[in-house]
Amino acid sequence: MVNVLLTGASRGIGAAIAAALDATPGVTLARHATATGLAADFAEPDAPDRLWHAALDRLGGRIDVLINNAGVFEANPIDSDAWLDEWERTLRINLTAAAALSRHAVRHWRDGGRGGRLVNVASRAAYRGDSPAHWHYAAAKAGMVAMTKTIARGYAAENILAFAICPGFTMTGMADDYLASRGGDRLLADIPLGRVARPEEVAEVARFLALSAPPSMTGAVLDVNGASYVR
Ligand SMILES: NC(=O)c1ccc[n+]([C@@H]2O[C@H](COP(=O)([O-])OP(=O)(O)OC[C@H]3O[C@@H](n4cnc5c(N)ncnc54)[C@H](OP(=O)(O)O)[C@@H]3O)[C@@H](O)[C@H]2O)c1
Repeated sequence: MVNVLLTGASRGIGAAIAAALDATPGVTLARHATATGLAADFAEPDAPDRLWHAALDRLGGRIDVLINNAGVFEANPIDSDAWLDEWERTLRINLTAAAALSRHAVRHWRDGGRGGRLVNVASRAAYRGDSPAHWHYAAAKAGMVAMTKTIARGYAAENILAFAICPGFTMTGMADDYLASRGGDRLLADIPLGRVARPEEVAEVARFLALSAPPSMTGAVLDVNGASYVR
């Protein structure tokens, strides 16, 4: 059995990853989700610690795979009086919480001597940047990619593998609301594939990395963006 802790499992990409893993024999999933799983608000500094220990209890003391998927995409206009607070909120939820969980995971995997797999859901914004109201989001995702590479390089010899996924626009809500929140029809013109990604497409990549990607792929960052950004 492979024991997986998945954050942000309640909706969007996380719900699709949960469905993909549920459909895979031999996987036991601990879901982090406010209403329907192990609750933890990552705006609270000690929430990742509490979540890690709750997930360990749920999974019988062994976690083999950590998927850091939870995140927020909140606008932070540069003229806002709350700019610094909003910067720190997004960094805490999107990067610091993932780092705290990754630290628990790496220590757990080293102690267990079995290794493990880390999958971080970052964003195209890590490479391309984002809108003027989303400096914090792009910076957090770039940090996540750098953290992933650092873990991959630092612990590969102990069979600890780390991967990142960089989705582009991914249809996670009602289509009209989603497109409006990301700039309307203009965004489609920027995607050679002609459509945004489906959560199931990102989930398939997450499942591959979590369960079967060859170890030599460790440190890889996989794009899922319809060629809207190639690097
Ligand atoms: N959709 C896109 O276009 C896109 C593109 C690139 C990257 N991504 C990344 O993909 C990941 C999933 O995005 P999504 O679009 O599927 O998002 P979503 O539909 O808005 O879902 C966000 C998830 O994060 C959790 N979450 C939100 N605030 C949280 C907090 N304060 N503490 C802990 N968990 C919190 C939510 O949990 P609850 O609902 O249970 O509270 C929910 O499960 C994110 O990291 C996002 O940055 C998304």
